Amino acid sequence: MQPSVRTELPGPKARAYLDLEHRFEPRSMSEQAPVVWQRAEGVWVEDVDGNTFLDMTSGVLVANIGHSHPELVAVMREQADQAVNCYDFPNTYRPLLAQKLVEITPPNLDKALILTTGSEATEAAIKVARKYTGRSEIVAFHGAFHGRTMGALSLGGKRSGAGNKGFGPYLPGIVHAPFPYEYRCTWCHGGPCSLSCFDYFKEVIECETETNIAAVITETYQGGAGSIIPPVSWMQSLERWCRDNDVLLIIDEVQASFGRTGKLFGFEHYGITPNLLCLGKGISSGLPVSALLGESRIMDSLGPGTMSSTHGGNPFCARTALVNIEIIMRDRLWENAERMGDLLIAGCRDLQRHHPWIGDVRGQGLVLGVELVEPGTKAPDAGRAAAVVQEAARRGLLLIAPIGMHGNVLRIAPPLIITKGQVEQALTILAEVCRAVEAPVAVGV
Ligand SMILES: Cc1ncc(COP(=O)(O)O)c(C=O)c1O
Repeated sequence: MQPSVRTELPGPKARAYLDLEHRFEPRSMSEQAPVVWQRAEGVWVEDVDGNTFLDMTSGVLVANIGHSHPELVAVMREQADQAVNCYDFPNTYRPLLAQKLVEITPPNLDKALILTTGSEATEAAIKVARKYTGRSEIVAFHGAFHGRTMGALSLGGKRSGAGNKGFGPYLPGIVHAPFPYEYRCTWCHGGPCSLSCFDYFKEVIECETETNIAAVITETYQGGAGSIIPPVSWMQSLERWCRDNDVLLIIDEVQASFGRTGKLFGFEHYGITPNLLCLGKGISSGLPVSALLGESRIMDSLGPGTMSSTHGGNPFCARTALVNIEIIMRDRLWENAERMGDLLIAGCRDLQRHHPWIGDVRGQGLVLGVELVEPGTKAPDAGRAAAVVQEAARRGLLLIAPIGMHGNVLRIAPPLIITKGQVEQALTILAEVCRAVEAPVAVGV
């Protein structure tokens, strides 16, 4: 199969849907390329005008087993005929999903609460950490993204910028420390990590908390901040500090889990074990399912009725997630993610050699961050990043809108089933796109 874009973008039918969107929906969603999805299968997306795109988004890192996997579709059809929602009544799949999650995670994580969204999982993590410890402070990191509901947003580490302002005051008791962003490190200036930011983390604890800390929460790589991957030593220091200070370590793997990074779970890259683990996105490859895993000593501090949700763990979602996880485990999709990720990174580094405005290429399995800068400097080039996304769509390659602390990072994250031939197709198109946007681009394109 080949990408094929036969209309201008948006095409005529897409234009009509975009008009409806602008008329009847708030502009609160991220602005993506003007592609109105009609069908999606495997790594391919077809829009309402019949254009076909090679998908580098997985629908924001969700469709890990590919879009509309036939086994998943079959099970959804069957379950839709049986039962869809039953609230907190027990059903025949929710406990099985909880059991499966407990079985595939480290032995200390022996209880799983099934919810619907990633934000709900991080909110639940704050609640249970406070309830169990009897302490209120939470430490999060600059650049962090843990969701858009108020508690999750309060954990987030990027509040400036027009889009983020105006929602405060945030939840009290949350402090932020720097995350190791090696490409732009204040201390190491792109050189080898000296862990100075970890010393600063300890200073934040000393100066900004009352040492009434319930938990530290971090992603295993920062997604929204631009696919920023911390050094192993930093993550291990953090785990050690939490253990030494009797503070819970919450790992938010809503984005990094289920094979995305070349391992089943992102924390495996660092040899660490969380006390609480937030999962989402790839857990179901498409339905709203998330989970909070934790140690029973912690999770059992939640009393009846204190944490669940209307749709959380309903039989339709729970069964689909269960089958999705079985497919990931059976097909060992993290192995393909690692192999294809290596090819993609190598390809993007090759492009970097030809285009001085590609400042950094980083990645872990099938999540890449390609950071664009003004040539010869590290000044962020958000305009060119936006132009790349638009130009790629015109050539049949679907990318998520730029991310990052400065909006200048391309995120490349195809379904984990992508083949070598499809990676090569993607790299060929990216090379064409890079040539097409070679001239300097004004911000706001
Ligand atoms: C690390 C992380 N945590 C939490 C969330 C929030 O998930 P949701 O959008 O499902 O609420 C996201 C979403 O991108 C995420 O990447």
